[in-house]
Amino acid sequence: MPEDVLLSFEQVVTGHPVIPVVTFSSLDQALPLADALLEGGIRILEVTLRSEVGLPAIERISTERPDITLGAGSVKRPGDIQSVVSAGARFAVTPGTTLAMLEEIARWDIALLPGASTPSEILTLMDFGYYQQKIFPVDHSGGIKYLESLSGPFPEVHFCPSGGICSNNFLDYLALLNVFCVSGSWMTPTSFVENSNWAAITRLALETSRQLA
Ligand code: 3PG
Repeated sequence: MPEDVLLSFEQVVTGHPVIPVVTFSSLDQALPLADALLEGGIRILEVTLRSEVGLPAIERISTERPDITLGAGSVKRPGDIQSVVSAGARFAVTPGTTLAMLEEIARWDIALLPGASTPSEILTLMDFGYYQQKIFPVDHSGGIKYLESLSGPFPEVHFCPSGGICSNNFLDYLALLNVFCVSGSWMTPTSFVENSNWAAITRLALETSRQLA
């Protein structure tokens, strides 16, 4: 089945090997953060549903900054899907994935990056046609060595590692043959977002863009 499902996420992230993840505490942070990333050459963003501001922030960014490829993160309940689609998200990311979530997502026109962390979870996602998966939390699961181990039994699966990725290691992850993108909050630290330090976020985004070039 759903090879088209995984292809659609592949299309979403084409040209975006690094996905910044942010949690907002105020709706006023949404557009300045999006602009800071765009100024730094990063044109994709995952906004988590970990705060009440998540959904309205997705709605605001998708309306006001349509150039940014926008997704919803920390999507945990099937009922969240309709909300993030309505808000304008083009993709959804789950930290782990239930069967109920997989059944619900098939009803909606949105790409999914489903989360897994163990071989059994990886196999379940493969059963549903997902050959691109988020591995979370990759730092506590074994990091690069864990991904190398997964390439043995799962050469057909490609991963987006997340959790503990930083400016010092993201290129090492991207160099792995079974990694197609990485995500994390190293360009969007909470302290910078809380203090509206948008210039610092642009600098982090620029540094990442330069490393990718
Ligand atoms: C998350 O869902 O928290 C993301 O995977 C980001 O993790 P990080 O904050 O450790 O980069």
